[in-house]
Amino acid sequence: MSRRPIGIIVNGVTGRMGYRQHLVRSLLAIREEGGVPLADGTRIWPELILVGRNESRLRDIAERHGLTDWTTDLTAALARDDVDVYFDAQLTQQREKAVRQAIDAGKHIYTEKPLAEDSAAAVELARAADAAGIRTGVVQDKLFLPGLRKLKRLIDGGFFGRILSVRGEFGYWVFEGDWQPAQRPSWNYRAEDGGGIVMDMFPHWHYVLEELFAPVRAVTCVNATHIPRRVDEAGRAYPATADDAAYGIFELEGGIIAQLNSSWAVRVHRDELVEFQVDGTEGSAVAGLRNCRVQHRSVTPKPVWNPDLPSGESFRSQWSEVPDNDEFDNGFKVQWEAFLRHVVAGEPFPWDFMAGARGVQLAELGLRSAREHRRLEIPELGR
Ligand SMILES: NC(=O)c1ccc[n+]([C@@H]2O[C@H](COP(=O)([O-])OP(=O)(O)OC[C@H]3O[C@@H](n4cnc5c(N)ncnc54)[C@H](O)[C@@H]3O)[C@@H](O)[C@H]2O)c1
Repeated sequence: MSRRPIGIIVNGVTGRMGYRQHLVRSLLAIREEGGVPLADGTRIWPELILVGRNESRLRDIAERHGLTDWTTDLTAALARDDVDVYFDAQLTQQREKAVRQAIDAGKHIYTEKPLAEDSAAAVELARAADAAGIRTGVVQDKLFLPGLRKLKRLIDGGFFGRILSVRGEFGYWVFEGDWQPAQRPSWNYRAEDGGGIVMDMFPHWHYVLEELFAPVRAVTCVNATHIPRRVDEAGRAYPATADDAAYGIFELEGGIIAQLNSSWAVRVHRDELVEFQVDGTEGSAVAGLRNCRVQHRSVTPKPVWNPDLPSGESFRSQWSEVPDNDEFDNGFKVQWEAFLRHVVAGEPFPWDFMAGARGVQLAELGLRSAREHRRLEIPELGR
């Protein structure tokens, strides 16, 4: 068995996503399994170069995981011949500049979403990457969640008949930071630092809708900053200038209506932190992160509206669980493996910078719809 080493810069490795999902659950997990196997038996072996701003935090992480290659100098890391891939999980606002530097250095690039802060910048990055002949990818982890994989299986199997609508609930209560520390970074709540739930979640909703159902053709969005004041990591109070809830209606090609609520100011009365209900002429499903339940038209009950009587029906028990029928690995890791096979063996990888740019465009138009109080159609993004 031969090993094909691939040098990967991991920038933003001290952050929530960079550390837990990308370093530990993906890249180190891949190494623990002996690398990513290719058809000819070769295994792609990630050689990691940790990059960040804080020496002692980088050293700490490196030592904790038996790694030796780390630096605070991104330019020097990008100049190395043994580096093939640049990965970015930094704060969103820092991304565009670093990605541009990586394009100029001729490295393949994989990045967290959103690709950039506006669609013009995102398309520019896609064009520059094309011109440089490099391979690109943007994280679209929700597609690899077990619940959504089961939902996709139902769609591909024709379970729904004609799909009518999708309604999604995402969110949970993010503590204000005063009497209990917040469980998300404070920059998420400051517009001036690139925060806001629309910019955070609409890129996800874009690829979920586009890949599972149909392209998004129009958006209507109302957003809000429900909690106007929060307390940061250092215990200082700050004005929350970014949106912390978004109520969006998405019109899809072919007539499907999707209505998705995203909120960091909602308490969970659901089975999972995100759930999508899909209703079709032949059946309906409710999919979450892990589980998916269905109700076929043949077993659909016939409720009659009568508020004078207790309902007597246990609606939740009238649904059946979709079996796993498969092993589901961590979604971030599955996408990393696909990207590495794309870079090394040229295997297809549809989630490139242009796909990322379409996600940014939906967020941008969602914000504009909210600002201007109107429905906006979504123009095709030219490459
Ligand atoms: N795919 C997903 O489900 C998902 C979920 C959450 C966040 N994200 C994305 O991942 C990225 C990182 O988010 P996070 O929640 O890990 O954030 P975080 O605040 O935990 O981490 C941010 C990282 O960026 C680095 N950084 C570089 N320059 C910085 C600066 N000037 N100020 C502050 N930090 C700076 C930090 O050191 C840290 O390593 C964001 O782009 C976000 O949109 C994706």
